[in-house]
Amino acid sequence: MLNSLLDNLTDYPFDRLRDLLDPLSPPAGISPLALSIGEPRHTPPKLIDEALSASNDLWGRYPPIDGTADFRTAIAQWLARRYHLAGGFIDPDLQILPVVGTREALYLIAMLAVDGRQKEPRPAVLFPNPLYHVYSGAAEMSGGEAITMAATRGSGYLPDLDALDEQTLGRTALMTLCSPANPQGAVADVAYLERAISLARKHDFVLAIDECYSEIYSDQPPPGGAGVCENTGSMDNVVIFHSLSKRSSAPGLRSGFIAGDATLIRRFKHLRSFAGATMPMPIMAASSALWRDEAHVEKNRALYRQKFDLADQLLGGRYGYKRPAGGFFLWLDVSAYGGGEEAARRLWAEAGIRVLPGAYISRVEADGTNPGDDYIRVALVHPPDVTKTAFQGILKVLR
Ligand SMILES: Cc1ncc(COP(=O)(O)O)c(C=O)c1O
Repeated sequence: MLNSLLDNLTDYPFDRLRDLLDPLSPPAGISPLALSIGEPRHTPPKLIDEALSASNDLWGRYPPIDGTADFRTAIAQWLARRYHLAGGFIDPDLQILPVVGTREALYLIAMLAVDGRQKEPRPAVLFPNPLYHVYSGAAEMSGGEAITMAATRGSGYLPDLDALDEQTLGRTALMTLCSPANPQGAVADVAYLERAISLARKHDFVLAIDECYSEIYSDQPPPGGAGVCENTGSMDNVVIFHSLSKRSSAPGLRSGFIAGDATLIRRFKHLRSFAGATMPMPIMAASSALWRDEAHVEKNRALYRQKFDLADQLLGGRYGYKRPAGGFFLWLDVSAYGGGEEAARRLWAEAGIRVLPGAYISRVEADGTNPGDDYIRVALVHPPDVTKTAFQGILKVLR
């Protein structure tokens, strides 16, 4: 077990949060509120129950690794509607795969991207910082060199692609981007995505675009990798990641998909046939029904809008708050209150409000700074009334 890659991974953010907060107790008589985890608490759509009960007979079947034709078709049609794709741009049989939540897929893509690369120079695996913890864990476990791309206020909360040097780009195996970004909610525009795609093709690396918050937005639907790729005529080098966890408030369903470059999808399918769980057929049937329906997504989005309206009213002008273009997190600058850890401690001890210190989802940059140190991440996953109570609590503690 010497030099175990696993043992060297930074701790899981929520274990660190327990270590920070468990020694403290919220005030007596207060019901604690967890705004730390991005787990949507809106009522999951009824469609799920209906589709599951209509497919009871399917529990007796081993599901195919690449899903059913109906599932892939539902997704190809959704992609075409959502990103205005011409029919046939995404071939459902060759360019779409189910995944049991995008978490496993975001992990496996690093294994696939680094596999087969020469050892010297060492393959680079690039991801934004702050980050969804899987990007960093996957980069470390892939055997490549994990390289952060800081996404700070100064860079518009997206990685500065022009700051990447040619030498690093030349050995890059994988670049992961997240739009809308967790935690800052920044959205990559078409020009940004075009630039990322052209870098991926020029330097022949895999570009993974995590779009699992794509349906949670304030005004305009965020552009995505599929739409921008269509303008270039192909999905070469690009894989996009979508999930029902946020779109349909169904994180327990464990249902998502990847789509993109046919060669990468074929290799991904091969890898998954060793290392991935298959999606149970009734879950697949429910997922197809969800991808075909937008009414529940609109209702879901309206609830998030209501919560961001509340944030505008109550938090506007404080903590560097700016309504994010997408996603459902607040990324609040609490440097005036001792930084992210101190603010999280006080919110828990004084108001029973659980938030995540930004440093737990960020890594220290080469210059020794951590872009998350000054921040807390607040997940707006509860209904609006509960969210309002939480905002009032935050305002009372961080005066
Ligand atoms: C940025 C990001 N990507 C991917 C995921 C994984 O979602 P799931 O595995 O539920 O599809 C999450 C979950 O919180 C996330 O925040």
